[in-house]
Amino acid sequence: MAKATQFELGLIGLGTMGMNLLLNLADRGNVVAGYSRDRSKSAELRELPADNIQGFDDLAEFVAALRIPRVVLLLVPAGPTVDSVVAGLRPLLARGDFIVDAGNSFHRDTTRRIAELAADGIEFVGMGVSGGESGARHGPSMMPGGGQRAWERLGPLLESAAARVGDEPCVAPMGEGAAGHYVKMIHNGIEYALMQMLAECYDLMRRRLGMSNEQMAAEFARWNAGRLQSYLVEITVEVLRTPEPHGAGALVDAVLDRARAKGTGKWSSQDAMDLGVPVPAIDAAVSARELSAYKTERLRLAPLYSDPPAAPLDRAVALEALERAYHAGAWIAYAQGLAQIAQASAEYGFGTELATVARIWRAGCIIRAAILDPIAAAFASDPVLPNLLAAPVAVRALDDSVDGLRATLRVAIDAGIPAPALAAALAYFDGMRSARLPANLIQAQRDLFGAHTYERTDRDGVFHSAWGAP
Ligand code: 6PG
Repeated sequence: MAKATQFELGLIGLGTMGMNLLLNLADRGNVVAGYSRDRSKSAELRELPADNIQGFDDLAEFVAALRIPRVVLLLVPAGPTVDSVVAGLRPLLARGDFIVDAGNSFHRDTTRRIAELAADGIEFVGMGVSGGESGARHGPSMMPGGGQRAWERLGPLLESAAARVGDEPCVAPMGEGAAGHYVKMIHNGIEYALMQMLAECYDLMRRRLGMSNEQMAAEFARWNAGRLQSYLVEITVEVLRTPEPHGAGALVDAVLDRARAKGTGKWSSQDAMDLGVPVPAIDAAVSARELSAYKTERLRLAPLYSDPPAAPLDRAVALEALERAYHAGAWIAYAQGLAQIAQASAEYGFGTELATVARIWRAGCIIRAAILDPIAAAFASDPVLPNLLAAPVAVRALDDSVDGLRATLRVAIDAGIPAPALAAALAYFDGMRSARLPANLIQAQRDLFGAHTYERTDRDGVFHSAWGAP
């Protein structure tokens, strides 16, 4: 049979992610085309034996071969590249066509691009895609924004290629405007918090409990066999078991302890600050990566201060607490991220449903985890839940594990081992469950030095007082 000549979807950006997603869509029976200026990439597609996938190196020919309304999926680096690709496409597209940006774009750029393209009647859709290279090939979790019309055109294509839980695809509309990229940004914020918490657990196992890489791998594997089953715990086991290819021991020991970042975690924290939503576990994870980059300074300070004396510790007891610490920390990290999405949805008019977000994170994405099942169920049964921590299932989960978080932090503090994300999670939990906080003292201080006024517990209104003993 001859190759198809008209295509349901065209993809620009045939790097590993783009190529894998296109092959995935083709495997599901969709008739798809890829464009690349790099002739070897488009030739690769042309040479594939399947009839339902084709490659182009001429942009106008590529666009002309797409079914109307056209869908052009972009998998190009976030930032100026998106603008330049859009600028090239714009004169070739017509009213009613769709451009779907599937990169990790900043949500405010997406909002701007939506407005710019709306002037030509082109709908720009920001879509988060998670799952890395293997997810793109075998089933990612996808978070598209945009309106109903976009979902009607894109839904069947995306559903065919998404990860699945049973027969439920891990893709659904996230809400209006830039909601898709916003939800992906928070996915990454939670990803930063969970990765940092796992690194803190690893540090305690290694430095305080003196465990070998294999002992730690076995412990994380035990976690992964239970309620903490998740992709990030699973890959931690794989990392710890990977041998050093250039010598003895494990590869992880040869990796420089300086964590890099592409920006989505920082954006989550920045936007949380703008919205006035506390997400301290995410903030702490961003700061911890930044602190790790101060390697020269750390090397200089290390010999100046001594470690606190280590008291005897029962390894089995400490490990039991550590499993509960991570369990509590993970629940609290999801609670913070989802609370930020709720606030952003209200502020930016996304109309995002948290139950849907949690549902499509259950497979395919980096933060997929068994605890997303009860989290999705909690929001499905109470869509106006003020905070995940208020759900009965969260109360049960934290009742069972928060003591482990406290015990673990005591161990960390006594040993002088930093655990900033776990500590921030606990402080958030304790703050959120405090009927009365010491903010009254801050209000009084503000009013004393700056006449900033304060509210009272017993009367409505705004007050200013002359503070000081009579
Ligand atoms: C995903 C990931 C992915 C991102 C990494 C790296 O969901 O597939 O989130 O989008 O590339 O998280 O992010 P950092 O470089 O900032 O760690």
